[in-house]
Amino acid sequence: MTRSVLSGSTPHMGLFIRTFGCQMNEYDSERMEGLLSRDGYGLAERPEDAGVIVINTCSIREKPEEKTYSEIGRYRDLKEKHPDLVLLVTGCVAQQKAAEIIERFPVVDGVIGTHRVGEISDIVREIKEGRGPVVSIGLSDECRIDSYPRRRGAISSFVTITQGCDNYCSYCIVPFVRGRESSRTSSEIVRDIKELTAGGTVEITLLGQNVNSYRDPERGIDFPELLERVAEIPGVGRLRFTTSHPKDLSDRLFDAFRTIPVLCSHVHLPLQAGSSRVLAAMNRKYTKEGYLEIIDALRDARDDLAVTTDIIVGFPGETVDEFEETLDVMERVRFDGAYSFKFSPRPGTKAASLTDAVDDEEKSRRLAILQELQREHTLCTNRLHVDTVKEVLATGTSLRDPAVITGRSVHNKVVNFTGRHEDIGTLIPVKIIEARNNSLLGEAIHNHSIRSM
Ligand code: SAH
Ligand code: SF4
Ligand code: F3S
Repeated sequence: MTRSVLSGSTPHMGLFIRTFGCQMNEYDSERMEGLLSRDGYGLAERPEDAGVIVINTCSIREKPEEKTYSEIGRYRDLKEKHPDLVLLVTGCVAQQKAAEIIERFPVVDGVIGTHRVGEISDIVREIKEGRGPVVSIGLSDECRIDSYPRRRGAISSFVTITQGCDNYCSYCIVPFVRGRESSRTSSEIVRDIKELTAGGTVEITLLGQNVNSYRDPERGIDFPELLERVAEIPGVGRLRFTTSHPKDLSDRLFDAFRTIPVLCSHVHLPLQAGSSRVLAAMNRKYTKEGYLEIIDALRDARDDLAVTTDIIVGFPGETVDEFEETLDVMERVRFDGAYSFKFSPRPGTKAASLTDAVDDEEKSRRLAILQELQREHTLCTNRLHVDTVKEVLATGTSLRDPAVITGRSVHNKVVNFTGRHEDIGTLIPVKIIEARNNSLLGEAIHNHSIRSM
């Protein structure tokens, strides 16, 4: 995603950030923007208008990692024209490949690791003083996520509650690039959220690689209790969280769906694979049956719960029968949506050294079958909403038609509807009239009581 809001006052004070990867990186990009805003930098529309360019990278699969290198190459000419331009590489590739990046790309002035985002102002200053290239990539066991000047007026905001991951799923690079799992204090989280709601934020999404293992380092508060505390903050109209690991869901979390009305009816619960043998090889620590039981318990707590997931096809040694077990789980759960990927070996992870690789053509075949099935399921789940009234948080106008208002339902479905521009930033009842593949169409009902939904 490319951030593009207002430019800084002069090209030198413009900041251009190119963000790859997950919400963690989105969050870090917003942090860097907030920290540099203190020094007078403002977001620039185009890299040509920037004095500082940040490439915030992702290494979850081979493809996003490759994008890092092509993206760096794109700024070579610009840097030649403006030698005082500061080019920084941050994020997960930066964390793992700092030395290689500096060696291969002399245009890069600084590499900042995932725990060093807070140093960005000092690093930019050092580079401007001619002390580059600067590399700062140390990982720390302590939580390095501090509060920062947040963008005011965002309708929906992420708040990071945990950093890193200790799960070591055998395919995954994240524990290596984001470090050990640690939690922020609940008092800091609550303070951040109060500031956001005071600035007009309605929807809060608590963020972490594995939010369910949250534990306040000061007071021992766990994740279900944190949800209760956040829900009580005045102005929190909607509460979401991502991502959950099936092994860490507890009865108290199921209860949270019974007792916390502002908790949205949606959970993102990565399945990864349907075969218990493959799940064990992935080090996921749950079985096919265990996953299905969790889904039943969640739906028992909230009968309209929307469930989305992540799935990997072609893990080393995955047989056709084992792949079909993934399809079987999909048929039983009927996910509202799924992000699906071909297994991509990541150097340094356990799965990268497994020999029994599934060839790429077969991985593509499996992915196509899975995505077709998911397309049908997404449409079926979308159709269930037709002729009902849903609460939608209106976030803006549709890119295609500015007369159409767009937002998300509590089930996290995109809803495009006819309404009023004053609806933006508020929770609006919308009558759903049509289901599309990736969205719902509807019309606002301004005289409908939200409580009756
Ligand atoms: N913390 C989250 C997800 C992190 S990464 C979780 O625990 O599920 C997002 C998704 O990328 C993962 O859920 C997984 O489906 C996918 N992924 C991670 N490593 C991968 C790899 N080596 N090859 C293919 N997909 C991968
Ligand atoms: Fe990666 Fe597993 Fe951690 Fe998710 S839980 S970030 S998939 S190691
Ligand atoms: Fe990518 Fe790093 Fe997120 S590897 S998916 S940006 S944690």
